[in-house]
Amino acid sequence: MRVPKSRCDLLLEIAPDVERLFNRHMEAPRLWYPHEQIEWGAGENFETHPWSESDYPVAEGVRSSIYVNLLTEDNLPYYTNSILSHAPKGHPIRDWNYQWTMEENRHSMVMRDWVHISRCIDPVLLEDGRRVQMSRGEVPEPDSFANLICYVSFQERATQIAHRNTGAHLPKDDKVGRNILALVAGDETKHYLFYRDLALAAFALDPSTMMIAAAKQVTNFAMPGTGIPSFSRHAVRIAREGIYGLTQFLRDVVTPVLELWDVNHLAGLTKEAEAARTELATVVAKISGTVERMAQKAAATGRVVVS
Ligand SMILES: [Fe+2]
Ligand SMILES: [Fe+2]
Repeated sequence: MRVPKSRCDLLLEIAPDVERLFNRHMEAPRLWYPHEQIEWGAGENFETHPWSESDYPVAEGVRSSIYVNLLTEDNLPYYTNSILSHAPKGHPIRDWNYQWTMEENRHSMVMRDWVHISRCIDPVLLEDGRRVQMSRGEVPEPDSFANLICYVSFQERATQIAHRNTGAHLPKDDKVGRNILALVAGDETKHYLFYRDLALAAFALDPSTMMIAAAKQVTNFAMPGTGIPSFSRHAVRIAREGIYGLTQFLRDVVTPVLELWDVNHLAGLTKEAEAARTELATVVAKISGTVERMAQKAAATGRVVVS
């Protein structure tokens, strides 16, 4: 294996763990066919039957969530590129990246087929959003391998929660949509487990570097999709619907991941890493305070508060 000298030792030392976790991932392959999930006969021509909101009555936050989640899946080429930039030739992380890309690719395919047949989203709005987002090529670009695996651990978990919760908010009679989002969320779960456990192995190899990376990624974390037109407006609607927002980020993403990495009990940290741990605790406490205030406001007003 040839790795450029400029890359940190972590990338070299982690190679056996990448192989181990890749093999674990491949032991239980998730084989499902996008075309089998769709009720093709339920589709109608958009020319003779133009799209209207009443085709698929659902809360605006749910519609926003389907739109944002699908466009995020569309943006896959740039994520692949970002991960490849940390994957030197001959390193097993490169093989993982190819497998991961293959699995991710079917998400946008199956979701778009369902969206068009069910008419849950305006197809013109969707295509306009896709064109704008993909022509920007905007994705987070972590500047080191440690930052990358911390970021993708949080991101895969967040994506899993977002798909799962969106599925739970679909109309009860949309069994096709519910099944598709459950399949996609199941894939995201496996991706999350790979990255989460790879990061755990990295913590064992280089706890200080990983602590600094974890603190940085929690502090700066943004859901994928910032290149999507009106992303902030959609994000507020999605949070208001109780699908994904700061509450879910804290409860379902940050807390379980940091607990699993056992960041509070890591020993032998450098001075800089200790400072990062303190900073991380401060950021998490701040988020907790905001989430608590939001819950109190919501209880008092009877409405979901998002900031
Ligand atoms: Fe995905
Ligand atoms: Fe994923």
